[in-house]
Amino acid sequence: MAISLDGQVAIVTGAGRGIGRAIALDLAKHGAKLVIDDIGVGLDGRGGDESVAGAVVAEIEAMGGEAIGSIADVAQYDAGYDLVKAAVDRWGRVDIVCSNAGFLRDRALHNMSQDEWQGIIDTHLTGAFNLLRHAWPVFRQQSYGRVVLTTSNAGYLGNFGQANYGAAKAGLVGLMNVAKLEGARYNVMVNCLGPAAVTRMTESLIPAERQANMGPELVAPAVTYLCSPDNTSSGMIIEAGRNHFGRVATIRAPGIDLEHATADDIAAHWNEITSLEGAAVHWSIGQKLDDYLSERAAAGS
Ligand SMILES: NC(=O)c1ccc[n+]([C@@H]2O[C@H](COP(=O)([O-])OP(=O)(O)OC[C@H]3O[C@@H](n4cnc5c(N)ncnc54)[C@H](O)[C@@H]3O)[C@@H](O)[C@H]2O)c1
Repeated sequence: MAISLDGQVAIVTGAGRGIGRAIALDLAKHGAKLVIDDIGVGLDGRGGDESVAGAVVAEIEAMGGEAIGSIADVAQYDAGYDLVKAAVDRWGRVDIVCSNAGFLRDRALHNMSQDEWQGIIDTHLTGAFNLLRHAWPVFRQQSYGRVVLTTSNAGYLGNFGQANYGAAKAGLVGLMNVAKLEGARYNVMVNCLGPAAVTRMTESLIPAERQANMGPELVAPAVTYLCSPDNTSSGMIIEAGRNHFGRVATIRAPGIDLEHATADDIAAHWNEITSLEGAAVHWSIGQKLDDYLSERAAAGS
């Protein structure tokens, strides 16, 4: 059956440009009503342009959809409240939140200023908390919610010169890991997107010959699926872009038991300690994913 978001309400941050705009348009195409949030900052997060969010609202309205614009700065705690309130005041619910707003302040670690560190953490990581924190009571009350947090391979794999950004983006994976547990009994699915797309953020970083098939519209369908009622997966990092889709996961290996080990024992057993043989994905600190899924299937949920 075709994916439908008819009657559903979504909030997308950073929805005025790039990946956020593509996500918003695809959600709208599938029937969702949208809160389009974007403060229209420059590439380094400075400045602002209030027309950026409005332009996407106009695009959605031209498609026959419904949308409202917002210029809330996601780094502010109250912005999350304002965004959720705007959706609930207008449509009475919030089903989907995509925390996607962001910018870069790249610098090698030895030169990174506190401002460069904090600005990135505040927007990418705290911005996601601010939105989830206020959407959560609505999700619990509705017993329904879908969340996508835009992370980056700079965080879960690593990229030179992006200590601030990598830390914030990896932090989103930690936020997902906990939110997925707290949301499970309320039918709230929380996943991360690891995108690859040519946008103003990346066009100078990706060589011209590799920019084909890298439009942000090729990323958005993965998000639409993750945000749909059809999706019952939670806690996944899904990579999307370049016509490619895949999954990234943290695994835990069995390791070995060593009683009262000394540093010399650790050295002697280093290969066994670091072997990934028999490693598995875990649902939580206490349970392997396969065990959790079997339990859920047995419970019929
Ligand atoms: N483009 C890629 O290949 C790529 C790869 C990995 C991760 N990402 C992530 O994807 C997301 C979208 O990036 P993009 O490539 O579309 O960049 P983009 O610059 O085209 O879009 C980001 C949007 O976020 C808005 N924004 C920034 N700070 C904001 C704030 N505090 N409040 C509200 N809006 C704000 C900007 O005004 C901008 O319109 C970002 O989180 C980025 O880190 C992108």
